[in-house]
Amino acid sequence: MSSKLIAPSILAADFANLQRDINMVNQSEADWFHIDIMDGVFVPNISFGMPVLKAISEHAKKTIDVHLMIVDPDRYIKTFAELGSNVLTVHYEACTHLHRTLQAIKAEGMKAGVALNPHTNISVLEDTINDIDLVCLMSVNPGFGGQSFIENTYNKVKQLKDLITRKGASTLIEIDGGVTNKNAKQLVDAGADVLVAGSYVFKSKHQMDTIKDLKALANS
Ligand code: DX5
Ligand code: ZN
Repeated sequence: MSSKLIAPSILAADFANLQRDINMVNQSEADWFHIDIMDGVFVPNISFGMPVLKAISEHAKKTIDVHLMIVDPDRYIKTFAELGSNVLTVHYEACTHLHRTLQAIKAEGMKAGVALNPHTNISVLEDTINDIDLVCLMSVNPGFGGQSFIENTYNKVKQLKDLITRKGASTLIEIDGGVTNKNAKQLVDAGADVLVAGSYVFKSKHQMDTIKDLKALANS
């Protein structure tokens, strides 16, 4: 079985000590950097933008997984590629022409991801799943770190896994929001491949150990 990946969410890092926190992730057993970009329109919060991502990618030594919570993401696909994004995830709810957006992301040499809000049914991906490298299932309403995990996510992971299998796709399933040691194992058992964890990692006392333990749990 392929190994399950851990992606610490930099949204929960200490921005006054960003280089320290990036180095911690570099040295840890984490697999990816998860980077949340919020525009204050698609979600009721603004996180950080291009200059901060540029600084992160200059120091990050692992895959950069960018989660765009912005309207009309097509405008910035090229820019995010230039800033070092390896995976670029757009929201299904923010894309009028999702198929075109996915092709544009791939044309820039990135993996193409689609995020689904908690209220969005898996069935909307029926006709695009074979074009998607990663589906990010939101297990909280996007916009903020530190929220409680929505239990219905387990059902959605199973439904998504069934869709991927039925269509013969090789799409990865990522879970984003409220991930801790309490739900990690059940999520991978349901079919998850990538676990994003923000507060659980960065608010813990021994961050590298927290990542190590989460990774061991996900691969147990
Ligand atoms: C929420 C973001 C998440 C967030 C996760 O909108 O997409 O990536 O940083 O944070 P935690 O793990 O604290 O729920
Ligand atoms: Zn995210």
